[in-house]
Amino acid sequence: MKVKILLFDEVKKLKKIFSGIQPSGTLTLGNYLGAMKHFVDLQEENECYFCVVDEHAITVPQDRLELRHNIKSLAALYIASGINPEKSVLFIQSEVPAHTQLGWMLQTVSYIGELERMTQFKDKAKGKEAVSAGLLTYPPLMAADILLYQTDIVPVGEDQKQHLELTRDLAQRFNNRYNDIFTVPEISIPKVGARIMSLQDPTKKMSKSDENQKSAIYMLDTEKQIEKKIKSAVTDSDGIVTYDKENKPGISNLLTIYASCTGESIASLEAKYKGKGYGEFKQDTANVVIETLRPIREKYNQLMESEELDQLLDEGAEKANFVANKMLKKAKKAMGLGRVKTKA
Ligand code: TYM
Repeated sequence: MKVKILLFDEVKKLKKIFSGIQPSGTLTLGNYLGAMKHFVDLQEENECYFCVVDEHAITVPQDRLELRHNIKSLAALYIASGINPEKSVLFIQSEVPAHTQLGWMLQTVSYIGELERMTQFKDKAKGKEAVSAGLLTYPPLMAADILLYQTDIVPVGEDQKQHLELTRDLAQRFNNRYNDIFTVPEISIPKVGARIMSLQDPTKKMSKSDENQKSAIYMLDTEKQIEKKIKSAVTDSDGIVTYDKENKPGISNLLTIYASCTGESIASLEAKYKGKGYGEFKQDTANVVIETLRPIREKYNQLMESEELDQLLDEGAEKANFVANKMLKKAKKAMGLGRVKTKA
């Protein structure tokens, strides 16, 4: 095998990055601006693992055929957004069994109380008669995803912060109780775009599971749909384009979307739209979103029609299994699972 010799500078920069997205529906602009877009930048200088976390998706009921479609569709979206499978390891969680194995082991170091305190659990369980045990034990599986790859940094949107704080606690608890084997990961959240809000209720986050289709822009929406949704986004009536999250959540959300898509600062956008009405601002916001998503949608359509995707995912699973199994072995040894074979 060829050994890659890293220059000193590269070693300093090279970090291990892991992140995952659930294939539980079509991705939204929130998923893209809060997470995926940053994955693409990070892959240039780091060792990256990006995962389609299908075992997380089944913590709420899924239609079998829809899930199958969503898994492949998400993998295609990762690549269409710029994830390069030659630079990053792209794989499907259920094709790397070490995730659920370590997930189980980490459940045994998790406390029910701390799992019940997770806001995502509380939100998803609210008002439901039957809540799956998997929904409660979701965070130790997420911790396993991350800890298997000696991850230094996890890039996510703001809503995942609490899960990542728990991941850090579980890693430290395991290290103290058994053996110091896990890297305790840092959390990385974008400065702008960490929480894109619903277009219909800008006090709620934009979510792929929102029943109101007008509340979210989906990454595969047509240009007409995007324009219509942004034009009908809920705003206020004072007609001034300024960022004020408290009093003008709708306009603030659109400013955030615009700024995240183009890289312009919010202050420069406020200056640009001084004295102009919401109509023009909304039209321009729709245009920048359309321009951001158009190349992704085009590449996506090509990928879904080719055989290339399956091959790339096979290669990703092979690489991920190799790395994850080594860590799983260490964790089993630390806990005393299995046996040490007696030599003859
Ligand atoms: P998921 O699938 O809900 O979301 C994927 C990523 O998108 C971010 N995100 C947002 N960012 C900004 N604004 C929004 N409205 C918005 N909605 C979603 C999320 O923060 C996330 O980064 N539990 C995770 C999946 C997961 C994972 C992991 C993540 C499983 N294992 C290990 C990181 C590391 C989830 O449900 O993300």
